[in-house]
Amino acid sequence: MTSVLVLNGPNLNLLGTRQPEIYGHTTLADVEAMCVAHAEARGIHVTCRQSNHEGALVDAIHAAKGTFDGVVLNAGAYTHSSIALHDAIAGTEMPVIELHLSNIHARESFRHTSYIAPVAVGMICGFGALGYSLALDAMIGHLGGPS
Ligand code: DQA
Repeated sequence: MTSVLVLNGPNLNLLGTRQPEIYGHTTLADVEAMCVAHAEARGIHVTCRQSNHEGALVDAIHAAKGTFDGVVLNAGAYTHSSIALHDAIAGTEMPVIELHLSNIHARESFRHTSYIAPVAVGMICGFGALGYSLALDAMIGHLGGPS
């Protein structure tokens, strides 16, 4: 069965209470439940993880190789700073879809640079929590359909 890791980075554990005018009122637990329900409806398997630590995210991408078929990654602020995450994706050649709840291109200029984008299959941003379902569908399409 197609298996996808949904990996969330720093501060995303605060979803629901963190700047709700930007990130909405949906909690991380809600997002993860939505991902699991969406995956079930599409006939794939999803595992959700979150860490505030760059190295733990690197480890999760390394461990995903051979375990998952793809990764939906919201790297949070590490998107804009982490060469280590860039290298982990390039080094494992895992298919990664970059995801952001907010439209990072409509925000501060420091959010316009992504170290993930050059090594990602593609990027979804600006659709809030719905973006996770869109990203899962995009990953299924990229992988050639559920198996
Ligand atoms: C974010 C956007 C990032 O710029 C920010 O640092 C986050 C969340 C998003 O989902 O919109 O932590 O990745």
